[in-house]
Amino acid sequence: MRQPAITATASFQALESHAVDAKHWQMRQLFAADPQRFPKLTVDAAGLFLDYSKNRVDATTVGLLLDLARERGVEAQRDAMFAGEKINLTEHRAVLHTALRLPRDKALVVDGQDVVADVHAVLEHMRDFSDRVRSGAWLGHSGKPITDVVNIGIGGSDLGPKMVCLALRSYAHPRLKMHFVSNVDGHDMDAVLEQVDPATTLFIVASKTFVTAETMLNAQTARSWFLRHAKEDDLARHFVAVSTNTEAVKAFGIDPVNMFPFWDWVGGRYSVWSSIGLAVALSVGFGYFNDFLAGAHAMDEHFRVAPLEQNMPVLLAMVGFWNRQFLGCSSLSIAPYHQDLNRFPAYLQQLDMESNGKRVTKGGVPVDVPTCPVVWGECGTNAQHAYFQLLHQGSDVTPIDFIAALRPTHDLPGHHDSLLANCFAQSEAFMTGKTGDEVRADLRAQGLGEVEAEALVPHKTFPGNRPSNTILMDQLTPPLLGALIALYEHKTFVQGVLWDVNSFDQWGVELGKVLAKNIHHELTGEIAPERHDSSTNGLIIMAKAAQHI
Ligand code: F6P
Repeated sequence: MRQPAITATASFQALESHAVDAKHWQMRQLFAADPQRFPKLTVDAAGLFLDYSKNRVDATTVGLLLDLARERGVEAQRDAMFAGEKINLTEHRAVLHTALRLPRDKALVVDGQDVVADVHAVLEHMRDFSDRVRSGAWLGHSGKPITDVVNIGIGGSDLGPKMVCLALRSYAHPRLKMHFVSNVDGHDMDAVLEQVDPATTLFIVASKTFVTAETMLNAQTARSWFLRHAKEDDLARHFVAVSTNTEAVKAFGIDPVNMFPFWDWVGGRYSVWSSIGLAVALSVGFGYFNDFLAGAHAMDEHFRVAPLEQNMPVLLAMVGFWNRQFLGCSSLSIAPYHQDLNRFPAYLQQLDMESNGKRVTKGGVPVDVPTCPVVWGECGTNAQHAYFQLLHQGSDVTPIDFIAALRPTHDLPGHHDSLLANCFAQSEAFMTGKTGDEVRADLRAQGLGEVEAEALVPHKTFPGNRPSNTILMDQLTPPLLGALIALYEHKTFVQGVLWDVNSFDQWGVELGKVLAKNIHHELTGEIAPERHDSSTNGLIIMAKAAQHI
């Protein structure tokens, strides 16, 4: 059903009126006025805790935001997604990453096929294979166990497994070293190949389509490198594929027995739960991979049944929408206070921006409000010593999601309290800031004269009132990581519904792919240079000249 423009809805207009004052509220005052603000604006789900009290919202704002969610049909569209309806309209596909984490005893029939049975058949294959590699029963061509796994993929076929393998580092098999090659830049592959032994290395060629240029070139390079050290017959012990495209896998020379399939209803950026997660299963073992799926399923169930008032993904989405729409925040910074979540911001960049980086509605008309913010970030405390200056005192307001585990998965004394102190202090500082009067009083107390103090006041003043969320978990375990990722998946879904964009296609990456093919032909001299603009022509000519030096 075609949605009205968001600005034409009654709930949006009610929010607009509310925002006239609310966007100027001072959070310091909101906290001072209501000692119950923390319990009121926090929520638990699937082992995660979300504190969204450090936003310029109150109960009325949240109520109005939830009215908007209802008016946009978030609940009905959520149910349509879970039921396997073809909500990816431009590709005529269902969107069923949630089915990848359904327990075995459930059923979900889509186009006459029980997808849960299919999912669990592949999971069994993954279990068997990962058990054999991990136990040492699966041997390389010279009879030695596998020591290194190289996942070759890009986008969703890289970011998910890479992020999760790092996040679950403490659960990893001690013999198996995981490597990830994604970039078509040969330096990426080169850096990995120089570390591994062909006799003990397993390559996973991970590509939903099995036509992605970067992955295919990297896979061919790995194959040629391997064949310089071994025979064609040995390939089967060292190359496996993860894909939806059996024909292309066969054509590449990988035995379909060593192929782990998935389905077109799994989007690349939602695929870590599928056989794209094979690297994860190999690294941490199938039991923990299963726990990871179970954690995501717990968040799915929460998202599916919890009332909107207590629904964590919905609340996270609506507060994000408020900041984007009414505070004009054009970016969102992700700050994991956990080194093992180092790749989480990069993962979320694809999840959020490839999903909602759209400017037309499902009906093909321009969205009449700004859509997805730029998502970026880095682990705290490193980020503090790099760009937090701008977040505290720069001219733009950037909301921040702080993510932390209450207990570490290491046993080094002294570190974790220091880490958490930094995390909590930053969210406090962004909220309270430091007024000119406070700065002045400090400086005078330090013995500075009036003139000297006044000169410093503007530089040392923090505007504060800068929004943030804090997401806490007990420890970074497989189920809690699963829940965390699913939280952001559903948040992304809800915002896509508000903007009425198709969060499940990615046509925006196509143009560059096509043009790169043309230029590649020109660079390799196979066809005469095409007439581009003078800049592009000039760059091509420079590259060709340099290669002939
Ligand atoms: O080009 C973007 C994209 O299609 C992503 O959506 C996807 O995750 C990535 O490329 C990799 O695609 P594939 O798994 O088919 O190689």
